[in-house]
Amino acid sequence: MDVELLLKEIKMSVETKIETPYYLIDEENLLKNLRRIEYLRNHSGVKSVLALKCFSTWSIFDLMSKYMDGTTSSSLYETKLGYEKFGKETHAFSVAYSNDDISGLKGICGKIIFNSLSQLRMFYKKVKHIKIGLRVNPGISYSHFDLADPARKYSRLGVISKEDVMSVLDDISGLMFHYNCENDDFENFSDTLDKISMKYEKALNRVEWVSFGGGVCFTKDDYPLDKFCRKLKSFSEKYKVQIYLEPGEAAITESCELVTTVLDIVKNVKTIAIVDASIEAHMLDLLTYRIAGKINAEIGENEYIIAGSSCLAGDVFGEYKIRDNLKVGSKIRFANAGGYTMVKKNWFNGLKMPSIVIKRLNGNLEIVKNFLYKDFLDSLS
Ligand SMILES: Cc1ncc(COP(=O)(O)O)c(C=O)c1O
Repeated sequence: MDVELLLKEIKMSVETKIETPYYLIDEENLLKNLRRIEYLRNHSGVKSVLALKCFSTWSIFDLMSKYMDGTTSSSLYETKLGYEKFGKETHAFSVAYSNDDISGLKGICGKIIFNSLSQLRMFYKKVKHIKIGLRVNPGISYSHFDLADPARKYSRLGVISKEDVMSVLDDISGLMFHYNCENDDFENFSDTLDKISMKYEKALNRVEWVSFGGGVCFTKDDYPLDKFCRKLKSFSEKYKVQIYLEPGEAAITESCELVTTVLDIVKNVKTIAIVDASIEAHMLDLLTYRIAGKINAEIGENEYIIAGSSCLAGDVFGEYKIRDNLKVGSKIRFANAGGYTMVKKNWFNGLKMPSIVIKRLNGNLEIVKNFLYKDFLDSLS
């Protein structure tokens, strides 16, 4: 037998020995995204900072930090994590900081972005030695969900009034516009960027850096990356600004699975396979946004509802038509389980927490985190 094939089979058999449930991060798949990020940096001059709110699994930061410029955060703890585990540039943002947060940020972030004028005024003296940015709400956005729409009615995310933005330009060096969510439409991105460019021209001429946040699917196979590079490059040349992007999902998309085992199969008109994981506890966004999880399986004639093992009646991953006949012990692999999953997992029902496994570039599997009853116990008191 071919040696490579043999090694592959040995590794597969090692994987079947890992107890489910577990999140499996595949470095090779991750690398595809990271190489696109690198391409973007090289061809547009844009810097990319990882949005830790989406993905904070720091055991893989050594690889990610080779291709990205640093991290951005949503709280003091995320900022600390980025500083300690990722390094390079550490950006800090929060919808609202407390006094203690600001004290904790001292010495660990290179940029701090405020969400409002009142927060900027409140903390300006304490942070004026670092680069300060202001989040702007341009009043336009791209989002499939009202819940995630930064420009939704009565949004608290960013400064709305252009006059307010203009009034603090002497105190800040940058602006942040996060206005996209899962935007895979380049033409839309391009049009909205032009609108922002026209509306904030005077402000843009006076700052050193601009962040366009996250939410753009530029690492997808069919995304017109060269056009994206050209668009961003011409913007940064026009205003002489350093552009930052804050990819979360785009950095880790399609690089992670949630691997589970079927524990039971029941029937209520349809056939329902119950797995040893839960959307509520382990892939919460599926529940929040009412979307079906994708599974990595051959399509076929067998129809199943695949559901979680929590007590929640609606703990359902989705309905699938697959080739295999499922039985107790069958493996189900949920695709794209990296973004907004591990950072949101919780101990609902005291369910077994999926461990975290990394498939390294050399094919080795490393269990980087195993959760035990003690972790459940320690999360409460
Ligand atoms: C300010 C900011 N930056 C970056 C991101 C990351 O977005 P995504 O994971 O969609 O790329 C978000 C997501 O909500 C955000 O609010």
